[in-house]
Amino acid sequence: MSKQPVRVAVTGAAGQIGYALLFRIASGEMLGKDQPVILQLLEIPDEKAQKALKGVMMELEDCAFPLLAGMEAHSDPMTAFKDTDYALLVGARPRGPGMERKDLLSANAQIFTAQGKALNAVASRNVRVLVVGNPANTNAYIAMKSAPDLPRKNFTAMLRLDHNRALSQIAAKTGKPVSRIEKLAVWGNHSPTMYADYRFATIDGQPVKQMINDEEWNKNTFLPTVGKRGAAIIEARGLSSAASAANAAIDHMRDWALGTHGKWVTMGIPSNGEYGIPKDVMFGYPVTTEGGEYKIVEGLDIDAFSQERINLTLKELQEEQDGVKHLL
Ligand code: NAD
Ligand code: LMR
Repeated sequence: MSKQPVRVAVTGAAGQIGYALLFRIASGEMLGKDQPVILQLLEIPDEKAQKALKGVMMELEDCAFPLLAGMEAHSDPMTAFKDTDYALLVGARPRGPGMERKDLLSANAQIFTAQGKALNAVASRNVRVLVVGNPANTNAYIAMKSAPDLPRKNFTAMLRLDHNRALSQIAAKTGKPVSRIEKLAVWGNHSPTMYADYRFATIDGQPVKQMINDEEWNKNTFLPTVGKRGAAIIEARGLSSAASAANAAIDHMRDWALGTHGKWVTMGIPSNGEYGIPKDVMFGYPVTTEGGEYKIVEGLDIDAFSQERINLTLKELQEEQDGVKHLL
């Protein structure tokens, strides 16, 4: 093994997403089959959570993953994030049946302020951060604002699950394989206001919009199905999505680290004013990635309907931002 191990911190490591995520990271699905990893796992100090974390670590051990170069259990972000190259911030309180994501804003704001500060103090100066814990965009915004010495661009929020959900809906509608769909975008917040946009999408070079040719389906079936999918999973399982969320986190980090080779994916990233979104808003954008950096797909035409949808999701994000202003 020639590559040096990289440090990967995961918070909420004993939770249900953690359980679906860690084994895939340790097996090389996230950073490549030649990249050893050291897992730095954070859970709350609570005895039950720490005991459950030990159990997960015993299972990781029992997999004898050749790429797992080390693992540590932590109850303090200041030690968990020490020198970390990648941080997946999953730990947060999940939404239960009938709860709105906004209800969780304040409790989670405190967690992400502390974790942003800890990253700022002890993580690698080029740490790449993915926030999964909800409300993901605003939590990522809080962490970024709490870490003024780290590059803003290294803080991201997970919109990839929404992107993947939209891909599957389009594949089902057109009867074409998911793998052939290109140029899909999801704009805005990881919430029902997100705008999944297939106006530029193609399948084998053919415009998806022409193949579907059904604006009613777009407005009344596709957008609500993708937007409310998280709630539909909660309703069906009695728990929020876990395996699909972990899968999206793997996709997000893998593509960021290893490149998309021209393919568009969606990442929640801090705006620099692109498409009229105010600076720093953590917004879902279509991006391509190369050499460990992402780049927004620019110059796309925004029609009146799309602008209306983008305004709506932006407004929600700005309200969330306002709601945590006093904590920053
Ligand atoms: P879970 O309750 O099963 O696990 C969360 C874990 O985080 C628990 O073990 C808890 O002890 C731990 N935790 C809580 N606060 C912590 C802290 N401050 N530091 C470290 N660990 C902490 O929840 P889950 O199903 O794994 O979901 C985790 C989060 O991911 C939730 O906020 C959920 O809403 C969110 N989520 C996001 C997406 C997305 O697409 N962005 C998708 C699904 C779920
Ligand atoms: C999801 O999209 O599945 C999650 O964000 C669940 C939730 O809390 O909405």
